Amino acid sequence: MIRIDSVTKRYPDGTVAVDRLSLDIPDRAITVLVGPSGCGKTTTLRMINRMVELSEGTISIDGKDTRQEPVNTLRRSMGYVIQNAGLFQHRTIIDNIATVPRLLGWSKDKARARARELMERVGLDASLAKRYPYQLSGGQQQRVGVARALASDPPVLLMDEPFSAVDPVVRKGLQDELLRIQGELGKTIVFVTHDIDEAVKLGTMVAVLRTGGKLAQFAPPAELLSDPADAFVEDFLGADRGIRRLSFFSAAGLDLLTAPIVAVDATAEQIARATTGTPYVLVTGLDGKPLGWSPPEELTAGSVDTARLLPYGRPFVAGEDSLRAALDCAVLSPTGWAVAVDGEGRATGVISQTAIGEAIRGAHEAGAGASGASESKALR
Ligand SMILES: Nc1ncnc2c1ncn2[C@@H]1O[C@H](COP(=O)(O)OP(=O)(O)OP(=O)(O)O)[C@@H](O)[C@H]1O
Ligand SMILES: [Mg+2]
Repeated sequence: MIRIDSVTKRYPDGTVAVDRLSLDIPDRAITVLVGPSGCGKTTTLRMINRMVELSEGTISIDGKDTRQEPVNTLRRSMGYVIQNAGLFQHRTIIDNIATVPRLLGWSKDKARARARELMERVGLDASLAKRYPYQLSGGQQQRVGVARALASDPPVLLMDEPFSAVDPVVRKGLQDELLRIQGELGKTIVFVTHDIDEAVKLGTMVAVLRTGGKLAQFAPPAELLSDPADAFVEDFLGADRGIRRLSFFSAAGLDLLTAPIVAVDATAEQIARATTGTPYVLVTGLDGKPLGWSPPEELTAGSVDTARLLPYGRPFVAGEDSLRAALDCAVLSPTGWAVAVDGEGRATGVISQTAIGEAIRGAHEAGAGASGASESKALR
């Protein structure tokens, strides 16, 4: 465990960048430092690997003060990733990734083999190995940065706004990749961002810092969203905190209706059975996948006129998605009803916005949602 104990950083000009900060950073999890510009995130990160020396307090790893260790040994146990990846422009991708193993004295072949393995792990095509950084997209460069930091298999990764410079789609891909890598490799990751959505998505624990380098709150993301410590944290979380929090509640418990669903070739009898008092009936293809909504009275036996169906928007996967995703489906649907599907995309049930609303109220009352979810990660 990395323990930051009452640490202060005063730069030579008198700026107090970090003020008596204490954090217990759990092993094999992602701890996110988030806060407005200038609040001391980078300074904190750099004090962990002693790129910046602290002024007061101690930082220890597994009980050992980081100042008792040679700084090179310390840094080798920590991969470091920054915005825009910070790659060596005159080295090929594969040699960028192999940098630390080479420094550690590995043979060229062994280091390159390791680099190739890592390229695959971070989702980089092997054909990019011989290119130079300027021949890669920003997102690809960022992946190289992650691979390079992982090269010597350090137990700790320090990441300073690694995904800030790429567009939202690439960024989401990189975030998902990081979560996957973390799940596989179990690294201890300290991740700096000023994006609260990124913090909530990635963090097992999230530290919110305020200007002046003071800790405002340190909590699992679900708890942050349900119980912000003060007005500053609440403000920082933004206006749609309630909606975001729904991503910590699973849609698995929703009471789905299965009756108002018919296939395009439904018989008069099947249509009669599907007409259960709901304002719309969901029509599926013969493969069970949703096609659209129809008022019950417009259904024609034997062959439903699919051209007249109302679009169903985007379905949610009941076993995987969150209440946030389910609500989003209902809100996007012109009928106000959401469609649940299984992993293969076959309709498994439907639910109204009102019923989802009731489930949300129930989840909030159970309140536990928050603490129960504190162990879990945000769902979609
Ligand atoms: N070398 C330095 N000398 C003096 N002051 C510094 C130095 N480095 C950083 N600071 C100041 O310390 C404070 C914290 O800086 P830091 O870079 O840690 O913030 P940050 O949270 O990473 O900000 P950002 O989100 O903009 O990257 C700022 O007020 C900054 O101006
Ligand atoms: Mg910074």
